Amino acid sequence: MKIISSPQELKEHLKSIKNSIGFQGNQSIGFVPTMGALHEGHISLIKKAKEQNETVVVSIFLNPTQFLKGEDLDKYPKKDEADKKICEISGVDVLFFPQPSDMYGADEVSILAPKVRGYVLEGESRPGHFNGVLTVVMKLFNIVNPTRAYFGKKDAQQLNLISLMVKQFFMSVEIIPVDTVREKDGLALSSRNAYLRKDERAEALKISSSLRLSSAMVSRGVLDAKEIKSAMRELLAPLEIFYVEILDREFNQLSKVEIGNTVILVEVKVGATRLLDNIWL
Ligand code: PAJ
Repeated sequence: MKIISSPQELKEHLKSIKNSIGFQGNQSIGFVPTMGALHEGHISLIKKAKEQNETVVVSIFLNPTQFLKGEDLDKYPKKDEADKKICEISGVDVLFFPQPSDMYGADEVSILAPKVRGYVLEGESRPGHFNGVLTVVMKLFNIVNPTRAYFGKKDAQQLNLISLMVKQFFMSVEIIPVDTVREKDGLALSSRNAYLRKDERAEALKISSSLRLSSAMVSRGVLDAKEIKSAMRELLAPLEIFYVEILDREFNQLSKVEIGNTVILVEVKVGATRLLDNIWL
């Protein structure tokens, strides 16, 4: 596995790979952007990229611009050596490991998240967060120039906004959504789970329980969004709830669940930790 920290060097390295002959014309490049502290969720993205591409590139970059003032940037778990091993074992071809100074200059051009879809849900409690996400993803895409890029459905709003950026900026990368990986007891894997104390971890199980409840209600024929949301809120109490929403795949509000076109999303605070999860019906 090659580890590269300079964007220019990575660009040149990948250009020569991309120009060599692959199965169907030029070699395909699968790209998995991450912020490190890798877990099974990230690994499932890497596996999917390995299945579908000849070369796999992973980036590990704790992107400062997507953290708001007072957020947990300094506290974010760092596991550089373990992450490198995980990438090596998972068969990653190139690991991109830049420093902030490699990625950002002084007076920066940036991408702005859309005024509506970028400022609801997570964007409402973290205004500006998605400007940082979209800006860094645009930079990473321009450096790697991937055929396909892999994103977890767990961060459904991030996935939705990145897909929107690719469409609206006429970019040629294909965005591949990947199912959420969970612990046996239902808790969605997240780098932030490391912050949870034992009692908080038990409380956090309410999140996946509330999503299972919503899908059980739908199976029983209850489609009314208000009724489902209020049952979920009852189950989540007394956790601090940022939102419980029932949206279509384009992120518009739904008053009735539409099977095959619905995402149910939850974000809560457990202790000092924000946790989000969702289910696609
Ligand atoms: P990070 O939180 O490290 O997540 C990297 C990718 O892993 C994202 O696409 C995320 O949705 C996915 N992921 C996280 N937990 C998962 C799980 N349990 N199952 C499946 N996939 C999971 O998301 C980011 O980094 C950043 O915002 C980034 C896109 C890299 C831009 O900085």
